[in-house]
Amino acid sequence: TVVEEVPGDYELGGYPDYMAKEIAEQPEAAQRVLRGRLDERLGTARLDGLRFTARELRGIRRVKFLGCGSAYYAGQVGAGLVEELARVPADAEPAAEFRYRNPVVDPDCLYIAVSQSGETADTLATVEELQRKGGRVVGAVNVVGSAIARECDSGVFLHAGPEISVASTKAFTNMAVAFALLALTLGRVRDLSLAEGRRIAGALAELPERIGQVLAESDRIASLAGRFADAEHVFFLGRVRGWPVAREGAQKLKEISYVHAEAYQASELKHGPLALVDPAMPSVVLIPDDELAAKNLGTIEQVKARGGPVVAVTTTGLAVPGADEVVRIPSAGPELDPVLLTIPLQLLAYHTARKLGRDIDKPRNLAKSVTVE
Ligand code: AGP
Repeated sequence: TVVEEVPGDYELGGYPDYMAKEIAEQPEAAQRVLRGRLDERLGTARLDGLRFTARELRGIRRVKFLGCGSAYYAGQVGAGLVEELARVPADAEPAAEFRYRNPVVDPDCLYIAVSQSGETADTLATVEELQRKGGRVVGAVNVVGSAIARECDSGVFLHAGPEISVASTKAFTNMAVAFALLALTLGRVRDLSLAEGRRIAGALAELPERIGQVLAESDRIASLAGRFADAEHVFFLGRVRGWPVAREGAQKLKEISYVHAEAYQASELKHGPLALVDPAMPSVVLIPDDELAAKNLGTIEQVKARGGPVVAVTTTGLAVPGADEVVRIPSAGPELDPVLLTIPLQLLAYHTARKLGRDIDKPRNLAKSVTVE
């Protein structure tokens, strides 16, 4: 395994476990994925590893992200960004589902294989299937020299540094940041204006600092962990920009604390899952400061009316009446807030798992990379 090594990377230093270390490393990791790739003057990004001309980028009619687990959820964040900034239809699908359904491979689609390890068997097989059918596939991979990185003709390295804890944190964040760079690139060869491009590029440049500000809230988030450690089931609710964040939050909590967590689109609550809400089942509600904020506040009311405790995760600017607890992040603008909203959820999962005395870096039944089917 070859990763860009920084001395001390594999040592715990003063941290109790690798997950704590990797969560704390996110500001520097984000800086690395951005380094040399932002052009703030032209309001765009430069991803040299993509090796596409502007004309070829214009020819992309669809973007599809493929990965497993958290890499798939990061792809979902990416799909949202591509649709929003470039207005190119985009989606994400679990790599294993894709490979086994005899997929229709579209020559005008850009397929993005997302993987921290670059060794996940289903993602690798997906790349091979795409290439066999003449699909254009690029890798979004952390481990340089890994199987997926070698198999793809072009790619975007994630530069997160070695990720040892089974639960992905800094690699997830860097995937989302890399996809924001891709979305900006695709947007600026299309109709995203210079002013908008500059706004996004500026917000991306400030993202590492904002991540640091979220991490500074770790103690406050630790104080909320008791609510989750005592719960048997937890809901994570979000809509549109908050939806992949909710999925990743639920995944993190399940994975390392073994508390049952389920993510739902907040808009689906009334269509069934609301029946589960009671005083013993807390809900984490994601509230980006965007045009759907009022709807998300309505979700809090729905849960509270059934006696369910609510922890809201939102930005500093938004009043959130009704929630039992509010965790706030500094906003990076609505497009990039999903990246920041994920970080309190990593911390919630982490502190809950610690309270429950779990083996944080090596959760039961799981391996860091799934190289078998
Ligand atoms: C993340 O916390 C999980 N351990 C898992 O879902 C992981 O993201 C997935 O197995 C994909 O791994 P990869 O990024 O190395 O391909």
